[in-house]
Formats: sequence, C-alpha cells, structure tokens
Amino acid sequence: MAVKTLTINDQLISGRSGETLLKTAKDAGIGIPTLCYLEGVSTVGACRLCLVEVEGTSKLLPACATPVAEGMVVLTNTARLQ
Ligand code: FES
Repeated sequence: MAVKTLTINDQLISGRSGETLLKTAKDAGIGIPTLCYLEGVSTVGACRLCLVEVEGTSKLLPACATPVAEGMVVLTNTARLQ
C-alpha cells in the first residue's frame, strides 16, 4: 500500500493510501471530534463534527470521509471551524 505524506496542523505525517484523514490524524495523535462513531449512531459521514479545512478547497471536508492525498495541507482547529 502506498504511503502519502501530508501536513496536519503544521505537523508532517504519513498515511496509507485509501486511509481517511480521520484515521491518519488519530494514528498521529491528532484529535478530531466525531459523533458518527458513537454506539447507537449508525450513519457515518452525517454529523459533520469532523469537518476540517484543506488547502486549495473552499469547502470544509469531513475527515471521516476524505481520503489522504500526497502533499495535502490540513487544519483541524481554525476560527472558521470553530
Ligand atoms: S464523524 Fe460524523 S461526519 Fe465525520
């Protein structure tokens, strides 16, 4: 599986191709809030609590449904996200 290098909150990290931003961030110790993974909540990708900013994209993207990409620059805690 190919490795992708990206930046989350100015921290250079690696993730596996096909992994989501949420998993890659979690593996790197970067917390992103979620509701979709709580017991009893079944619709993944619906709560929008995991939204992040990705450089080059004007829309906020859900970390749980966005795959990592080479060179991606991600912010998880900005005034816009708050
Ligand atoms: S965790 Fe709910 S939309 Fe991502």
